[in-house]
Amino acid sequence: MSSLPEINVIELLELGVVRIHNRKPGGSASIELKRPPPPASNSGSRLDVIEGRAPDKPMAATPERADKMTAPILEIRNLHARIEEREILKGVNLIIPPGKVHAIMGRNGSGKSTLSYVLAGKEDYEITEGEVLLNGQNLLEMDPSERAAAGLFQAFQYPIEIPGVATMTFLKAAMNAQRKARGEVEMSTPDFMRAVKIAGTDLQIDTGMLKRPLNVGFSGGEKKRAEVLQMALLQPKMCILDETDSGLDIDALQVVSKSINALRSVGRSMLMITHYQRLLNHIVPDVVHVFSDGKIVESGDKDLALQLEAKGYADFDGAAA
Ligand SMILES: Nc1ncnc2c1ncn2[C@@H]1O[C@H](COP(=O)(O)OP(=O)(O)OP(=O)(O)O)[C@@H](O)[C@H]1O
Ligand SMILES: [Mg+2]
Repeated sequence: MSSLPEINVIELLELGVVRIHNRKPGGSASIELKRPPPPASNSGSRLDVIEGRAPDKPMAATPERADKMTAPILEIRNLHARIEEREILKGVNLIIPPGKVHAIMGRNGSGKSTLSYVLAGKEDYEITEGEVLLNGQNLLEMDPSERAAAGLFQAFQYPIEIPGVATMTFLKAAMNAQRKARGEVEMSTPDFMRAVKIAGTDLQIDTGMLKRPLNVGFSGGEKKRAEVLQMALLQPKMCILDETDSGLDIDALQVVSKSINALRSVGRSMLMITHYQRLLNHIVPDVVHVFSDGKIVESGDKDLALQLEAKGYADFDGAAA
């Protein structure tokens, strides 16, 4: 059983993955595998077990599969966007392959959240040039719910409060709306409750909080945990995390990072917007980009974040011109 990470036999038992034989006091027990164990922590999520999904594992190499595994999940080409006559995005180019975590850092007001809103399909923005492909599909032609059903997820910098809608009700409705849009059967209430319990426990979320209206009265850190809970339940393919670390205390940062790391897999990519290198110590990115005046002006490995931490953005001012 040593190959089963971050899940113990009791949990596997509860999930119906294993059966234990000969459980006599002091006697030895044998464990029978009833169905495949959950994926490794970096190749899927424990929730896959409940959902009965195949974990995202590297597939045998055939030319078609190799294409699928290397084709970008997200491709942004020369994206320009404006709001109220003001151009904010001025030619964003970005390619994120499957399974990769990219980080974006940049000055306040440089357009990072605008990029995430435009990708999520928030109204008010006018796209004046460029295109965006999600798994090869034209993202900009889809409405926000279609984007979500296609696997795009955004954790907001400022999660909005929705009075009157219990968090639990919202989560179940969101999950089942996506399943319906994908032609999948709706998740039963017991399965949903178990999924919430697993993800909520990992994130140290008090279940009482989930009975309250979404984000209403949640502390800053609780709001961010609730965003990651949504991500863990929805199991998106492309996750945009806008300053998910802001508002988290030191311990919460570790808890949330652990949950995000557990969601890293070959079939899931992430774009993390952050101001602080400390997040990237916990969730080590494959690529770091510097965003300045509406576009990416520099890209590098994780050391680029260290360089920014030490020297600030002065070296990159004017680079967008
Ligand atoms: N409705 C609007 N009208 C005019 N300007 C706007 C509007 N909405 C946003 N902006 C401007 O767009 C710019 C980019 O904002 P954005 O929120 O994308 O920045 P950001 O890089 O995410 O900054 P931060 O690091 O502070 O979160 C800002 O200067 C902001 O004031
Ligand atoms: Mg922002």
